[in-house]
Amino acid sequence: IPRERVVVVSNRLAVSVHLIGDSIEYRQSMGGLATGLSSLRGDYRMLWVGWPGLPSEGLSDTQRREIDARLIADYDSVPVDLSEQDIQEFYLGFCNNTVWPLFHYFPSFVEYDHHTWEAYQRVNRLYFERLKPQLSPDDIVWVHDYQLMLLPQLIREVFPEIRIGYFLHIPFPSYELFRQLPWRREILEGLMGADLIGFHTYDYARHFLSAVRRIEGMDHQLGRLYHDGRQVGVEVFPMGIDYAKFAESSQQPVVQQHIEAIKASRNGRRMILSVDRLDYSKGIPNRLWGFRHFLDAYPDWHGKVTLTMIVAPSREGVPQYQELKRSVEELVSDINGVYGTIDWVPVQYFYRAFPFLELAGMYNQADVLLVTPIRDGMNLIAKEYIAAKTDGNGVVILSETAGAARELGEPILINPTNLPEIGEAIHRALTMTDQDKARRNSVMHERLRRYDIQMWSHEFISKLKQVSEDGEKPG
Ligand code: G6P
Repeated sequence: IPRERVVVVSNRLAVSVHLIGDSIEYRQSMGGLATGLSSLRGDYRMLWVGWPGLPSEGLSDTQRREIDARLIADYDSVPVDLSEQDIQEFYLGFCNNTVWPLFHYFPSFVEYDHHTWEAYQRVNRLYFERLKPQLSPDDIVWVHDYQLMLLPQLIREVFPEIRIGYFLHIPFPSYELFRQLPWRREILEGLMGADLIGFHTYDYARHFLSAVRRIEGMDHQLGRLYHDGRQVGVEVFPMGIDYAKFAESSQQPVVQQHIEAIKASRNGRRMILSVDRLDYSKGIPNRLWGFRHFLDAYPDWHGKVTLTMIVAPSREGVPQYQELKRSVEELVSDINGVYGTIDWVPVQYFYRAFPFLELAGMYNQADVLLVTPIRDGMNLIAKEYIAAKTDGNGVVILSETAGAARELGEPILINPTNLPEIGEAIHRALTMTDQDKARRNSVMHERLRRYDIQMWSHEFISKLKQVSEDGEKPG
């Protein structure tokens, strides 16, 4: 009997395609989501549909055919071709200039533009057109994230019986923000094409349900909506990480080498680490201000601690990201200029992505992980650090506005806009007793180990099957 098939649709494929001169390179993403979904392979056949990450104009017809063939043969993937215009209007435009800032509580950054909304509709349809010939009615379709909120309904119209799951990886904002969107109805109806809509936290699910009630006039019963004669389940699935991969990372010889190199370079100094994409939602400037407060309040620590910041470039085509880069660089050099000495640079700043093995070494060596987003759907960095920090000696400082804070009670929680509080939290982290650290770490390890990314994807799919079997509204 052929096994069932899960068709994953996301803005980006897990493999990205790069054009280096005339040759085509394929890079498999090592991201958590890709790993978790791959683990479904044991039970399901898999197909992936998404954008390979480059504009379609750069490619000749022969190259395009070659990419199509290679992606399906080696990666079970079908590419969606986005043109320069799609990237501009859909990806940089509606996705990252409208939805992203609105859903992360940056209303003043939001652009409301009918033109990019048109593009969002057009590109969601484009994903559907690419998906349609691949689908059979007994597939399970799993759509991911804010770039494709109209897709569930587009699929539903043509495949009324197919099972569709949707997961939002970013926050769903409170109704008072969501209502500002001129196309709020279309977005809700797009999502409700799914049988199951998943969120990271209970708050996001609640905000979604309240938006549905106020905008669509539709109430739920225990997280079930009844829409178009179907049930739509709304549930919480806090995304986990590939626990084993991080927990075992330090056993690798390469990681050991990185660890030795970091040890040798730190001169006995304590190490505070932060890792993010360069994004205004990540609260990088307030982190630096918080560190500055710490340095002002605790001069005894001067020369004894370093803040190592890894910032990965992201969405460089959006103006706010370019401005943020400048202000972060200014703050870093300001702190180093004011507090640094001939043998101590307070902030070590890297503007590039780090490969997994190097990052694992950093996690292993960091005494404190400083995570200060203004808003964050989940924040997996906090989870990765804890998993990789196997000596039970790490401390996490985490914003209460990150989804992970809803799940993990043991980090030191801070309000990211309260800069003196960040400074105090750093001091508290550096002076925490070993016993306290060990206790917090063991609770978190246990939870991350049990509810890992593999479990997360399996649980979502089995819930989806269950909801779609439940059928129509009772009575
Ligand atoms: C967030 C989003 C993802 C997105 C990622 C990287 O985690 O939830 O959907 O893929 O950021 O951003 P990018 O714009 O480079 O895809």
